Amino acid sequence: MEKKVTVIGAGNVGATTAQRIAEKELADVVLLDVVEGIPQGKGLDLFESSPVEGFNARVIGTQDYDETRDSDLVIVTAGVTRKPGMSRDDLLMTNAKIVGEVVEQAVLRSPDAILLVVTNPLDVMCAVAKKVSGFPREKVIGMAGVLDSARFRSFLAMELDVSVENVSAMVMGGHGDSMVPLPRYTTVAGIPVTQLLPQKTIDELIRRTRNGGAEIVNLLKSGSAFYAPSAAVAEMAESILKDQKKILPSSAYLMGEYGIDGVYIGVPVKLGAGGIEQILEIELSETERSLLHSSAEDVRATLSRLGQS
Ligand code: APR
Repeated sequence: MEKKVTVIGAGNVGATTAQRIAEKELADVVLLDVVEGIPQGKGLDLFESSPVEGFNARVIGTQDYDETRDSDLVIVTAGVTRKPGMSRDDLLMTNAKIVGEVVEQAVLRSPDAILLVVTNPLDVMCAVAKKVSGFPREKVIGMAGVLDSARFRSFLAMELDVSVENVSAMVMGGHGDSMVPLPRYTTVAGIPVTQLLPQKTIDELIRRTRNGGAEIVNLLKSGSAFYAPSAAVAEMAESILKDQKKILPSSAYLMGEYGIDGVYIGVPVKLGAGGIEQILEIELSETERSLLHSSAEDVRATLSRLGQS
């Protein structure tokens, strides 16, 4: 294919992302992992599905960064998930080290790539990727808002018993407890959701959205969500690879927008061939703005614990 995508981390999110990108024929895919055999096995298995599914994308699995050379897009899902006894800060330190290492290796081979970061804690890992790569902010983007919005859209569609495709939602802020869902910018076939549901119900669905990742972890017992996260990554990847210029909530490095400076946070952006082509500054109420600011302060505090402020 014309385009080449590297997915680093062949776990649940990485492998499912590779599958979605190959099946949509967005690009040839290189799946890379540190564990020997896993990326090779999953890559070959995925490629062997292509005659049946009828897609024409080459897929390979590897541990060798040289195979990733000249990628248009590098998706970072490598990391560990939180184990019993591991503090949030332990997870932070471990994943920062992993993301730093993989980004360093990847950008050496693909200096013109766009980096799409998925590893948690998301907004902080984006900062690590930006620092290590030395890339401009247009080219280092985090996936969170599309996933959080998809969860909010799903819950709204279930509540209203309408098609999920009718529901359009906007979720800003950090990926975590401090995310900022915006009901005023959430519509059902163009109708603001605030006209369709009582505030109490909207608040309940917002609470469920904030807790969306944990809800899946509690059900699965081991491991975390991957179908919806990989779908969200694939939508962002498609907008970039096909230069669709979709407006999607994404984690972006702000330089004064919304009165926030020097931190990654979820905001609506236009994604095209150049990566982030525009950061949209929408009008926020006082409450929404202060929620966004406190979300940004949370990210900043985590960054300073990492010594990256
Ligand atoms: N280089 C390459 N791959 C690595 C490295 C490394 N240095 N360190 C870990 N990995 C790989 C692991 O071997 C594993 O295959 O990253 C993969 C992570 O996969 P999973 O444990 O299945 O985690 P997953 O559910 O895919 O989530 C990955 O995405 O949504 C986020 O919170 C999630 O941070 C997590 C990430």
